[in-house]
Order: sequence, then C-alpha cells, then structure tokens
Amino acid sequence: MANAAWPKLCLGIETSCDETSLALVAEGRLLDQVLASQSDLHALFGGVVPELASREHYRYIGPLLDELLKRTQVSLKDLTHIAVTRGPGLLGSLLVGVALAKALALGLEIPLIGINHLEAHLLACGLNSSLEFPALGLLISGGHTNIYRIEAPEKFQPLGKTLDDACGEAIDKIGNLLGFPYPSGKLLDQAACLGIPEINFTLPYIHNDNLNFSFSGLKTSVATYISQHLSSLKWEKPIKEVKNLPQEVLNLCASFNLAIAKTLALKLERAYERNRDLKYLWMAGGVAANSCIQKEISKLAKKLGLSLRVPPPLFCTDNGAMIAYAGYLLACKGYYHDLDLETIPRGQVIPWDYKQLAN
Ligand code: KG4
Ligand code: ZN
Repeated sequence: MANAAWPKLCLGIETSCDETSLALVAEGRLLDQVLASQSDLHALFGGVVPELASREHYRYIGPLLDELLKRTQVSLKDLTHIAVTRGPGLLGSLLVGVALAKALALGLEIPLIGINHLEAHLLACGLNSSLEFPALGLLISGGHTNIYRIEAPEKFQPLGKTLDDACGEAIDKIGNLLGFPYPSGKLLDQAACLGIPEINFTLPYIHNDNLNFSFSGLKTSVATYISQHLSSLKWEKPIKEVKNLPQEVLNLCASFNLAIAKTLALKLERAYERNRDLKYLWMAGGVAANSCIQKEISKLAKKLGLSLRVPPPLFCTDNGAMIAYAGYLLACKGYYHDLDLETIPRGQVIPWDYKQLAN
C-alpha cells in the first residue's frame, strides 16, 4: 500500500454543495487542487438548486480528476488513501463524490476515509501553519455557525451552534434584498469596507448564558431598515461594482457586517471564559474571508492572548484541499471506513464510526 516517495499520498474529494473540488496532499503538504464552481449557474435561481448541483458534480468530477493527476504527474497507483466529504451536505451531491471515492478505494485497494465537512473546514488552518491542540474553533459558513473545543483532528466537541440562520445565510439573504448576486458575501464585504458603520443594529441573541447564535432577528431588523430607509434610492442591480453604490447602502453593509462580527466575538469570548486552558483560536469557513470579521476576531485573539489561525481565502470556502488534508491527518492515526460508509445529509448528526488500523 505504501508508496516510496510519499508514504501517505491522500486524494481529497469535495462535492457537498456547489463546488466540485479535488486535491492531493502528500505527507501533510498540498501538491495541488482543482476546483469547478457552479455559483454562476445557481446565481440565476438565487440559491443552490440541489438537482442541478448533483448533475454538475457528475459532469465535472471525472475531468477534474484527470486534470489533477496530469498537473501533479501523479498516477492513480501512487495514491495511498482516498478521503471524501461524507456530510453534511446535499445528499445527491455527496453521493457523486462518495461513489467515486468508493470506486477508487475498491479498485486501488487502499483505505477510504469519510470526512466531516465542518471539521475539515477548521482543519484547513493546518494548510498554511502548524496545527496545535487544544484549540477553540469558529466555523462560519453558508450553512453553519459553530463553536468547538478541538482536542485532536478526530476530536471535536461542539460548544455552540446557530438556532436558525447561519451567519453566511443571513449575509446572503440581505445581499439578495440589496441586489447582490448570490452568494453575496464577498461583494457585500467589499461594499462594507467603503461604508461607515453608523447604524447601531442590536446584537442578536446575546442576553443569555449560552454559546449559541440566532441571526434571524438581525436579518429582520436589517430588512426592515432597508424597506424604511433605502427603498427610495436607486442603484444598478444585480450589483457588479460596489464603488457606484449610494453611501447609505455602503453604510448599511458596514453596520450589518460589524453587528455580525461583534456577535461572533462576544460568544467566542464567552466560550474562552469557560475554556481558559486553550491557547489557539481557529476560524474557518467561507465567511471567515470577511475582512470585518477577521479584524474583530484578530482584536479578540490579541485581547485574550490566543494565537489566531485562519486559512488563506481559497481554503476558507469549500475546497478539496481541506478534505485531502483532513484525510492525511486521520490516516496518520490509522483511521478508515469500510465501503459501507454512509453519506449524511444536512441536519443529521454525523456518527463517529471510524475503524482503526493496528500500528
Ligand atoms: O464555506 P462555504 O464556501 O460554503 C458552505 O459550506 O456553506 O461558505 C459560503 C459562504 C457564503 O455565505 C458566502 O457569501 C460567504 O461564504 N463568502 C464570503 C466570501 N466568500 C464566500 N464572505 C465574505 N468574504 C468572502 N470573500
Ligand atoms: Zn463548507
């Protein structure tokens, strides 16, 4: 099973939502990644259409694998492990990646490793710096807003989660109201950078004793503000260039961004107060690329004396590298799955069902 040049050469496959991405990690180092995004297609519908997403994964996945092998000069027989996102995600999309992973593992007679997509987002912090444990983890994506205590690559203890909208979802919905194309996080952030956060939106769901989030109230306040104060203004939609937007819209984006960033920081600080032995703070997921959130969380990390790790922007959004890297970390500990690995759709708990090779 071992390959002489790289005793561990792991292929990672990601198809949980609307990015098809594959990557190779050799001995913990990323060799290369290929990625096909479907966001332009789904933008026509204002959100991801599951049936279309799985068809697109099916169309892209074979050619992407060929391209990755060609670019890295790796042949299939060099692979030692196959890692694949097994959930959470869109079931039809997950099945495309898992079917390919099972076929490769079976044909090449190498271990299959099913990866928890959410945990892989946070483990991506190891792609550009060393991973140290135990760490406090903040995962902020289009579907999730979670806080974890992380003891090891396979040991994530959930501390808090969103009770309704994820912060990325709230951003995308407000973005949609303002006329940003889906997903709106990146452009809305650019708009926010040109605005002044002069509107004091009430920070949502903070007067309690827990580490959970709720962004639906903030979303309603911002939507109400837009209809009461911005409806008479005109600007080009869908928005392509943020510099042409009215200052009032830029200010709203800045204020909304800041309210989200402050809420995240407040709950993270609370989590740290209850886990004072932690020295590291990891932040990942598509929304971790948001500059205002990065600024607020950096300030918090400094205040608490925590060392902050954030993956580069390309590895904050969905990507194959994080899956290959998580697979590599689990392979180092001998974890694998049999070919009866199940895919887990969004909303269901991912079982901890690894098998472990004897050393
Ligand atoms: O992690 P991700 O790619 O997909 C999920 O697993 O959900 O996160 C998608 C979210 C979307 O809400 C999108 O608007 C946001 O990440 N996003 C960004 C940026 N790129 C994507 N937000 C701010 N700045 C960005 N550069
Ligand atoms: Zn994701």
